[in-house]
Amino acid sequence: MVSNVTVLDHPLLRHKLTLLRDRNTSTGQFRQVAREISLLMAYEVTRDLKLEPIDIETPLEPMRTEHLAGKKLCIVSILRAGNGILEGMLDLLPSARVGHIGLYRDHTTLQPVEYYLKLPNDVADRLVILVDPMLATGHSAATAAARLKQAGVRMLKFVCLLAAPEGIATFTAEHPDVPLFTGAIDRELDANGYIRPGLGDAGDRFYGTR
Ligand code: URA
Repeated sequence: MVSNVTVLDHPLLRHKLTLLRDRNTSTGQFRQVAREISLLMAYEVTRDLKLEPIDIETPLEPMRTEHLAGKKLCIVSILRAGNGILEGMLDLLPSARVGHIGLYRDHTTLQPVEYYLKLPNDVADRLVILVDPMLATGHSAATAAARLKQAGVRMLKFVCLLAAPEGIATFTAEHPDVPLFTGAIDRELDANGYIRPGLGDAGDRFYGTR
């Protein structure tokens, strides 16, 4: 396994991923479970945040304790399915800033083309967590990561619910410096670009559009 890839295999995550994969899970349940998973993933990917000392007073006495150092994080969602991951992450990280990047696939070149980008002005000073539930071919995530680096981002992590081996290979080849976190690595990508066994089209399952 590539060293910069972490499979988040906490039993709660594994259980909840099974619920997401199940075709009988309703749209409402899917959204709720994805929110719970995203919160748990945010907890895992922020393990190495730096702390700094702070002096406070408890009701009983002064104390030196610690709090998070530096600027708050930024979560960047790859539209549209990335938004399904945002809610749960913001439950845990309510002060995080949020950015959005929209990409579509050009039918001729088959390459992702940016149609929307909105980032906080000071995104370059923040740890950015880039989110997209499905790392399929890896092209959208790799393009989004490149765009963030172009905007000056130096501290970047990528988080998805499920990854295909092909997506991991593409992303890690282009961004060996970006830690990648996933709930599972599935068997393969099919001819239509779906992850197998997967969970189907994440956007459709979040928003009930099919
Ligand atoms: N995007 C999805 O939503 N599902 C897949 O299986 C692959 C890409």
